[in-house]
Amino acid sequence: MFHLVSVFVFLVLITSSCSSKTFIVLVDPVLKPSPFQHHRLWYNSMVSSSSGVIHVYDSPIHGFSATFTPDQAKSILELPGILSLYPDRVMHLHTTRSPSFLGLQATNPFVLNTSGSDSIIGFVDTGIWPEHLSFSDDNVGPVPVHWKGQCENGFKFNRTNCNRKIIGARYFADGYEAWFGQSDNPVEEFRSARDSDGHGTHVASIAAGSPVPGSGFFGFSVGSARGIAPTARIAVYKVCWSSGCLLSDICKAFEAAISDGVHIISLSLGSSRMPFYLDLLSIVSFRAFSSGIFVAASAGNDGPTSASVANEPPWITTVGAGTIDRDFPAKIHLKNNVSVLGTSITLMPDDELVRKHHPLHFVGQFNSSSKFKFSRQLVKGEIVFCMTQGHVNRLSLGAVLKRNGAVAMIISHGIVDPNGMVSEPHVIPTISVGVEAARQIEDYIISSYKQTPKAKISSQGTIPMHARPAPIVASFSSRGPNSLVPGILKPDIIAPGVDILGAWTNTIGPSGIPSDHRRSRFNIMSGTSMACPHVSGAAALIKSKHPNWGPSEIKSALMTTAIDHKRYYHRNKPFSALPPILDESTGNAATPFETGAGHLLPIKAMAPGLVFDSEHQDYVNFLCSLNYTNKQLQIITGSKPHCSNDGAWELNYPAIAIEAERVWHQDRPVVITRKLKTVNVGSAEYEAKIVGPKGYYKVEVRSKKVKFSGMSEVVSFRVFIEKDNGVLQEMKKLNLWFGAIVWREIEGKHEVKCPIVIFSKEYTGGWRN
Ligand SMILES: *[C@@H]1O[C@H](CO)[C@@H](O)[C@H](O)[C@H]1NC(C)=O
Ligand SMILES: *[C@@H]1O[C@H](CO)[C@@H](O)[C@H](O)[C@H]1NC(C)=O
Ligand SMILES: *[C@@H]1O[C@H](CO)[C@@H](O)[C@H](O)[C@H]1NC(C)=O
Ligand SMILES: *[C@@H]1O[C@H](CO)[C@@H](O)[C@H](O)[C@H]1NC(C)=O
Ligand SMILES: *[C@@H]1O[C@H](CO)[C@@H](O)[C@H](O)[C@H]1NC(C)=O
Repeated sequence: MFHLVSVFVFLVLITSSCSSKTFIVLVDPVLKPSPFQHHRLWYNSMVSSSSGVIHVYDSPIHGFSATFTPDQAKSILELPGILSLYPDRVMHLHTTRSPSFLGLQATNPFVLNTSGSDSIIGFVDTGIWPEHLSFSDDNVGPVPVHWKGQCENGFKFNRTNCNRKIIGARYFADGYEAWFGQSDNPVEEFRSARDSDGHGTHVASIAAGSPVPGSGFFGFSVGSARGIAPTARIAVYKVCWSSGCLLSDICKAFEAAISDGVHIISLSLGSSRMPFYLDLLSIVSFRAFSSGIFVAASAGNDGPTSASVANEPPWITTVGAGTIDRDFPAKIHLKNNVSVLGTSITLMPDDELVRKHHPLHFVGQFNSSSKFKFSRQLVKGEIVFCMTQGHVNRLSLGAVLKRNGAVAMIISHGIVDPNGMVSEPHVIPTISVGVEAARQIEDYIISSYKQTPKAKISSQGTIPMHARPAPIVASFSSRGPNSLVPGILKPDIIAPGVDILGAWTNTIGPSGIPSDHRRSRFNIMSGTSMACPHVSGAAALIKSKHPNWGPSEIKSALMTTAIDHKRYYHRNKPFSALPPILDESTGNAATPFETGAGHLLPIKAMAPGLVFDSEHQDYVNFLCSLNYTNKQLQIITGSKPHCSNDGAWELNYPAIAIEAERVWHQDRPVVITRKLKTVNVGSAEYEAKIVGPKGYYKVEVRSKKVKFSGMSEVVSFRVFIEKDNGVLQEMKKLNLWFGAIVWREIEGKHEVKCPIVIFSKEYTGGWRN
């Protein structure tokens, strides 16, 4: 199941539709036929004059987008100089409501006061609400001199909306409008970088929001909110509109971001399971990475299904979602004197629901194809209890219940949130409960059907710190293994992505539902969309402190210092004494398929001691080892490929993932080589330790000590992995073994951790077994 070969996908897409569609055409720019003076004239010659070229791509990819019939598309592929052709696609943001979720609490230990002010983060998202206090430039210095971006005029947006904080703002709608037609309501959609959705405003504030005292969401999570890198600069690239984000617009946004001079791209959307040469998002992110840009992207919200992770390329830092140690507890007092717990950000302390019992009504289970229809007589004046499975638009469900007169909702999110950890900004007072609490409520309703079942509900407000063990990997967070390249561990890292406070647009209520007339400067959302900007912000801090570091070094620093323990819950205990990060979906310790290298710890990532670095050519060699053809390699890298390896190639990745079958089927140990580079001045000595379960695999480093005598020195080491034949073995542990190699500085404080995962094709993921 890990090798979903989709080589045929794009041909199938071309031939399966008869009507015209947008395609993105990649050309080899040096093969422009000489009669055409400019590339644009060449492109014009390939499209009919009536429809015309939509986008022209000049760098880093060369080509254009235009509308073709499948027959035209096929014939274009045969013209000289054409590299490939991609059907345009609609992509969606990685939020749990269909668009929305996220935030940042003032007391969050991730919130650092360090500068980050030289770093520019590009957000490819829904735009920004520029007047928000989170984007004030009060404590921000002059715009960096190398910056070449601009503030584009548009509907209710002009140059005066940019400042020293928001230093660039552009929007890309041509691909979207070619696909969906001109928006029939440009007033509500703001044909400009202005955010009508809220998502882009939310993620930008998480990564780089200025401090805003007295923020909060209707009395919840009150305090001073600020981003991870409060003085980092924001460059806005709006590509997502009400019906989604077009790939052809995203490619144009990458082109702009690269030439404008961003250091980091934050991307809360993604694609999966497409070979890199068929996936334009992989291609443009490769080009960004090659230009020295760190690309962070969300892992997706398709957990807890195994192998569900999106954004698989090694040049992207892929971020899963965990909880933070703050809680919004709420109680349901059933009339039989049993109380069950849930979470809520919509119940007010003085609500009548707190004092008086109301009838409790179970309306059934909903899934993605359910229609929300209720008889008004049935739900009016009642607390309505609903169960959901999979991706259900829960905020709309609440709105429909409210419209029909329900007074409150109790909702279980099923497998996407079995412990009921996610609170949502519903328009109706709502308590979210876990699967176990839902079962108790259901039992009570069934047992008391003769009397009317009744309940009172109450909120306990915000319990700020240490309220619950954290981090726990959210059940919805997408999981590994990497179905495309099993040897590259994905996700790379996890960061806070549950109940996150962040800035919000002023044009729509926090639920995103038009009938929601509430306005809040902040909103609370969840999703890997919200986890990603935490990593983008941390990367901005690192880039400011180490301006010469490339994206591989930044990525390594983030991963090798990530922790796989409940750091924030037991702050005063040493790491070694702590229990592991848990997986919400199983209640067991999480594996690297949920957490990658572990949980983001920005303070440590600023000074990692050693890094796993890779050059551009290393990535080219990695692509060569995937056995791509020369043409496929050229499509990805943009130049004539030069493979300096003969097939086998290990990328110097800060994680080791190998297929167990490789170990089983050979008598000698499998040998993995990695290189460490010191990023400190002066000499240092490190000692290796392998951690992991004993008796299944023998995992060894034979030269256990390495010495560095000065800055930038590189030392390689080898890890030997073989099956341990000494003891009786459990198949389960042979199918999935995970540990780490930890390099600890002798007489120093640095610790460099690299996870090791050995997994078999038989491994199908935790919760399914
Ligand atoms: C953080 O920054 C604010 C203003 O930018 C300053 O007042 C405060 O003292 C700083 N706190 C620390 C711990 O450095
Ligand atoms: C820009 O927008 C502001 C506020 O909306 C407005 O006052 C100003 O006249 C606009 N400037 C230009 C050059 O359009
Ligand atoms: C619940 O508690 C109240 C007060 O303690 C008591 O009067 C009532 O009988 C109890 N109800 C049930 C169903 O146990
Ligand atoms: C949703 O539930 C209905 C009724 O239980 C079922 O028939 C249908 O197959 C379900 N759809 C999905 C997508 O799970
Ligand atoms: C590439 O081809 C070599 C030689 O045929 C083979 O051993 C290797 O497994 C292939 N690699 C991939 C990723 O398919």
